[in-house]
This record gives sequence, C-alpha cells and structure tokens, in this order.
Amino acid sequence: MRAKRLIASVLSCALCAGVMPVLPVCGAESGTAAVTVGVNSNITDASNNVGAAAVTTTTAKAAPAVTTTAATGSISVVTIRLGDINSDNKIDAVDASAILAAYAKMASNNGASGFTPAQTVAADVNMDSKLDALDASCVLAYYAYTATQGTSSIEDFIANKMNKPPVTTTTTKPPVTTTTTTKAPVPTTTTTQAPVTTTAAPVSTTTASVPASSTTTAPVTTTTTSAPVTTTTTSEPTTTTTTTLLTTTTTTQPVSTTTTDPYKVSSIKLSKTEIELNVGNGDLSYVTMLPATADKREIWSCSDENVAVVDNEGWIVGKSEGQCTVTVTSFNNPEVKAEIKVTVKDPHKVSSIRLTKTDIRLPIGGGDISYVTMLPADASNKAEIWVSSDNTVATVSDEGWISGIKEGTCVVTVYSKANPSVSANINVTVTDPSKVSEIKLSKYEMDLVIGTHDISYVTMLPMTATNIDEVWTSSNPAIASVDSWGNVYALSEGSCTVSVISKANPAVKADIKVTVRSKPVVTSATTTTTTTTTTSTNTTTTTTTTTAPVTSTHLIQNINGATFVDGILVVNKTYGLPADYGTPSLNANALAQFNKLTQEAAKLGLSIKCSSGYRSYSDQERIYNNYVAIDGIVKTDTYSARPGHSEHQTGLAIDVNSIDYSFLDTPECEWLAKNAHKFGFIIRYPKGKEAVTGYSYEPWHIRFLGVDTATAVYNSGLCLEEYLGITSAYK
Ligand code: DAL
Ligand code: ZN
Repeated sequence: MRAKRLIASVLSCALCAGVMPVLPVCGAESGTAAVTVGVNSNITDASNNVGAAAVTTTTAKAAPAVTTTAATGSISVVTIRLGDINSDNKIDAVDASAILAAYAKMASNNGASGFTPAQTVAADVNMDSKLDALDASCVLAYYAYTATQGTSSIEDFIANKMNKPPVTTTTTKPPVTTTTTTKAPVPTTTTTQAPVTTTAAPVSTTTASVPASSTTTAPVTTTTTSAPVTTTTTSEPTTTTTTTLLTTTTTTQPVSTTTTDPYKVSSIKLSKTEIELNVGNGDLSYVTMLPATADKREIWSCSDENVAVVDNEGWIVGKSEGQCTVTVTSFNNPEVKAEIKVTVKDPHKVSSIRLTKTDIRLPIGGGDISYVTMLPADASNKAEIWVSSDNTVATVSDEGWISGIKEGTCVVTVYSKANPSVSANINVTVTDPSKVSEIKLSKYEMDLVIGTHDISYVTMLPMTATNIDEVWTSSNPAIASVDSWGNVYALSEGSCTVSVISKANPAVKADIKVTVRSKPVVTSATTTTTTTTTTSTNTTTTTTTTTAPVTSTHLIQNINGATFVDGILVVNKTYGLPADYGTPSLNANALAQFNKLTQEAAKLGLSIKCSSGYRSYSDQERIYNNYVAIDGIVKTDTYSARPGHSEHQTGLAIDVNSIDYSFLDTPECEWLAKNAHKFGFIIRYPKGKEAVTGYSYEPWHIRFLGVDTATAVYNSGLCLEEYLGITSAYK
C-alpha cells in the first residue's frame, strides 16, 4: 500500500512548529490580580527575548500593568489588559485575530511571533505558558460573552466560564528553583486555593503557583515557600533592581485541571461512512466538526490513490476497481479523525482473454507472439501484464513477444492489468534449432494382412535440424518387421509397435500401432474399361466404357480423407484429396532421395532438375482452369488433374526439366526411366498405360514410393493402378 498523502494547507506546519511558551503567571482573585513576569532565556520567541531583563507586572482588575526593566535599569511602564493585544481597551475579534496571526507566524519564523514582551503576556489568555489558537478562542469566547452583557473580567470568565466541555489533563509540576540575590525577606504564604499575596509597594509581587485559568477539581496541595521568595525594591524612584528568588514546591500528587477550548475539535461526524463508486465517478460525505464552535479545517487523505483520490474539500473520485479508506482529520486536533470506506467498481472491466495461440514451439534465439483479445470489446482498460514462469527458458516482453533462451518448457501468462484475476496461458517449448525435437508421421496406425507391407512417411522437425537420420525398430519383429526406410512388413497375426527414433536425439520418437491379420480384407471396387475406336476414314472417335464389379485383395483405407491401398497413398481420378490435406511442402524423404538421384545423374553429365514439386489445391485449380480455357474439359482431363486429384498435392510427385515432350529426346529422359526406381521413384504415367492411369504419357512426372515398392512396381512392368488393382476415373 502506498504511503498516505496528507492534504493540508501550509498552516499545517504550525502543528509541528509547536507553541510559544511564555512564563507562568499567577492567577489572582478578581480585582486583585498581581502578576510578576520574569523574562528569561527559556523563552523561545526570539522577538520576545530581551536577555536578562526582568519584567514585573502588577495588575489591578482588568488593568494589568506591565513594567519592563531595561538593561540600563531605567523603568518604563506599559499598562496592558489580559487579552487586549492591541491595547485599544477592548477585548474583541481583532485581538483574537492578532493572536492567530502570531501563532501562524511562529511556524514560518523560527518560533518568533512578532509580539512585544507585553503583548506576549497579554496574549497568553489562558495562562498556560503557550501562545496558540486556544488563546485566540478564549478571547473570542470572552468577546461573545461581553457582547451579550457579560460583566465579569476576562480572568474571571476564563476561570469560571470556560470549563465545558471538560478537558482533563493531569500534570505533575516539577520544582522550579531560581537563584538570586536576596535583599529583603518576604513573608511566606501557604495556600490551598490560588494563593495571592500582594505587597503595598507598586512594583512588588508575590506569586502563586496555580495559573489563574485553572480550576482545582482534585485534592490539591500547593505550597509556595516564603523563604526563597524575596523581592527587593531600591529606594530610588527612577531606578529599580528587581530580583526574584522563587522556589516553588508542588506536591507530586497529580493535579487535574479542567479547561474548555471552544475551537478544539472533539469529534467528527460524517453523513456517510461508506461510499461505492464507479471508476471515473465522484462522491462526497458531509463533515460535521463538533462542537459547533470548533475550528472546522479538515485534512483529507486516502489509503490507496490507485483506487481513489480525494481533494481538499473531501470530493472522492474512483480511479480503479478496489477498496480504500478515505480519512478526514481535524486540522485543529489531529487526534480526531473519521473514516470512509470507499469501494470502487469498474462496470467495464475485462472478464476474459482470448489468445491466437496457446501452444508455441520456438527455437533458441527465435521469437513468437500470440495475439490477445481482451473481452468484452468495450472493456475500459485492456492493459496487459506478461509473465514467464521460467525466464531462463523463455522471456516475454511487455507487448507479449516471447523469446527462446534455452531448451525446455515454461508457461507464459498474460493477465488483465485492470482485473488480474483474469489471465490466459501459453505453453512454450524452446528447442535447439540444430536438433530434432519432434517427429511427425503420415500415419500412426497400420492394419495389415500377412504378407503385405506399408510405410509411414516421416517428417523430422524442426526443418533446420542438421541430422535427420532415423532409426526404425519393431517391438515384435516376428509380427511386423521394419526396414531402415520405415517399410513395415506384416509377418504373423498379432499387434506390435513400430517406432522411429531420431538418431541425433534418441529422446525423440514416434510410434505406429501395427495390427496384422491372417485373412485378407476383401473390398469391392469398380473397374472401368475404356475402348477407343477410331475409324480409318474419318476422325470420329467412339468411346465405350464398361464397368464390372471386381474383388480386390488389397487393403484400402481412408485416413484423413486420403486413400491408402496396401499402405500406399493413392491419388488419381478415382481417389482424391481434401483441399487442406497434408503439409504444404515436398516430402522430406522424397526430396532427400531426389537429391541423390540428381547427384548420380550429374556424375554422368546429366542435368535433372525439379521444375514442379509440391502444388496446393488452389495451385492445381488455377493450372487446370487455365488449360480448360484453352483446350476444354475433355482434353484437359487427359493431361491435367482436377484440383484435389493431383499427386503433386501429396508432396510425393516431382516434374523434372521441361515438363513437355521436348524432354523425350534427352538422355536425361532415358536415364530417368531406367534408374528412378533405384532412388524410390516410378514413372507414374507410363507410355501405353493411358487408359489405366487416366493420363497421357508423362516421362517427366515421377512419384516417390520408397526404393522397395518403386523397384517392385518397376520390375512388374505395371503402372501403379494395375499394381494395386485400382481404377482411375472421375465419378
Ligand atoms: N499432370 C498430372 C496428371 C497432374 O496434373 O497432376
Ligand atoms: Zn506432374
């Protein structure tokens, strides 16, 4: 929680500046008061400090006389009434105002009030040895009293009237000892009330120990010893040396005095002690300072200004959702306070967070971001706070950019700043870009008949991995064995797991669940035979198509919308692919083998290049439609696959070199036809098989099957449809 900020006027400095002490004066019975004031170095009012000079004051009723003895020893007499600061023979608001001004001045003037010594005495109306607001309030109270026909002296008024409501203070007066030269003894006086002994001489005084403004409410024994109090006056009328020896012994029993300060705040009442606000709105609790005559200045503060702020008039404005306490303190009496419990609500706060990604894989040194949507859309504060659970693995910036530091996993969390209870997580995996961290397979299950085989194509990730060598194993080679290419051979009935492991990072592997059956799965298929008859006398072509049901012993599976025959992915006119099928790139194994093929050809001086590899559904759509615009549908269908029916969408087919019949006459074409199978490829649309494949002869289009299958197909002399016992015809 932040530190409270006090809102107060500069006058608050007066609170800590203290009050100006003045010397104790003796209370006197009405009409006979005599005051002796000794000015000494204890006085902190700099303007009042006149060094070692003594001041002797003798008062008659309502007319105290202040006699100042200057350092030179000459006497000047100033007569001043208690409370009449400006000596205009009136005790009124002007005097109170002068006291308050002096009090305020002390705060910024090193304790100097600017009063003369005489004014200082006159101003300490309640005779508590301090110049403060209490004196001003006493003057005002007396002024009000005289304005309503009150006739008592201010001393009597202070002594008798200003005693409600009671304020009890307990004091123990320490003994005061002053040393002086004694020239004439003065009789001892002992009193239990305010004791006063006045000499006949005009400038001779005996003091009492109890201030005139105090009323004794508890047993009090006050002893003023006589022996130590000696006042001597010289005989010369114009030169007076007054020396006071005062030893006062006061009982150690507590003295209880009751005084009333009408300015002093005794309690604060609020119109509301609880306030509920929306962010941006304001409210107020009305303040009543008691008593009614009290100094009503207020100091406002708030426990948490992130939640709400309050101004000098108590106007509270909500800043953000939460709770805080607003406090109003009496300036006059800081011990008196009242509190308002403030609850701030935000009707437009964030209630949920949506992310574009909740899982991120990134390499060391790489970065990524998941875009954030704070909901509802009209949330007032959509600020985010991002935190990573492990900054040694991945760090996250204030904007949500995630940086990979080292291999490992961590969770990055985004919080709503305005409502931290709402958050969303991203699971982050940081990988070494040179190491295989994941293996993806084209299939994870195989259902095989004894004697058949299948393959699952492998993609090692990340693509930046420097060593993508793979190792294949079978949990039970007697049921299904696997070769170094991943060809799985079904040998006996049962189930097992075939696994592929990264050679460089054996902790990374992928499994294929293999089931081997003893009986062949029989599926019914349709074979289409197309007969083309061309007369020798004209150009009319008649095509007769006959369809007959056949029985296949090949296993046909549909996986993710693609057709696998005996584990071989087949795409032709009969079997299509979903538009979003597969990964949008050339198969890694196919590419690696093609590179070997081109290298071998190059050794013979042959140049074989990939001219068209992976093509997306939409690529094919554009190509096919272009041809249709030129040649029409029927002709186009003889050489270009419809979208979703091109092998190029599998990433397993490559068109080499010129992709037209100019390729036919090249040594590359001849070499490719004879050697492609050694690298796992077949010429997919051979010459003479147009009616079966559904396409014209394409010597440039090769299809990756793996070395074993490609070699088997090549050796069979069959096209792939014949080899697998399937058709190729649009439905
Ligand atoms: N030219 C082949 C049939 C294709 O379009 O995929
Ligand atoms: Zn092609």
